Amino acid sequence: MERTFLAIKPDGVQRKLVGEIIRRFETKGFTLVALKFMNVSRELAQAHYDVHRERPFFASLIDFITSGPVVAMVWEGDGVIASARKLIGATNPLNSEPGTIRGDFGVNTGRNIIHGSDAPETAKNEIALWFKEEELVNWAPEIKGWLY
Ligand code: TYD
Repeated sequence: MERTFLAIKPDGVQRKLVGEIIRRFETKGFTLVALKFMNVSRELAQAHYDVHRERPFFASLIDFITSGPVVAMVWEGDGVIASARKLIGATNPLNSEPGTIRGDFGVNTGRNIIHGSDAPETAKNEIALWFKEEELVNWAPEIKGWLY
């Protein structure tokens, strides 16, 4: 079963959007595999955004992600990686469709509320970066048969 890594960024936490965001993934039909509320070290932030290390926004991105607690999560389900990206919306919230998380709640690329892995390889790497194997809960909701 496919898994993805999602993180509610400090702005989503500060704005009390945690419940709303989790609700969207739950009601869509995906299954929560892991969740932790945590402060992010600069080391973890830099490893997570390593691909952007040379970009002009890298320093402010790291300052932002380490500025307050985040909700790190792993979600599971058929097609969850691409579907979560759709539910999240475009990187710049001004370009995100209404109905998406960023489209409904954001206006600024540097404060775009939530991160979601963009491909199977990054999902695998990000899950391994943020979670230990024993933090991933293997379970199957009984409602599953009704959804698929
Ligand atoms: P990116 O991986 O391109 O977007 P996404 O989060 O949609 O996968 O960029 C990572 C984060 O970097 C993005 O969520 C916000 C920040 N960012 C900026 O602050 N300025 C920018 O110009 C870009 C492209 C990203």
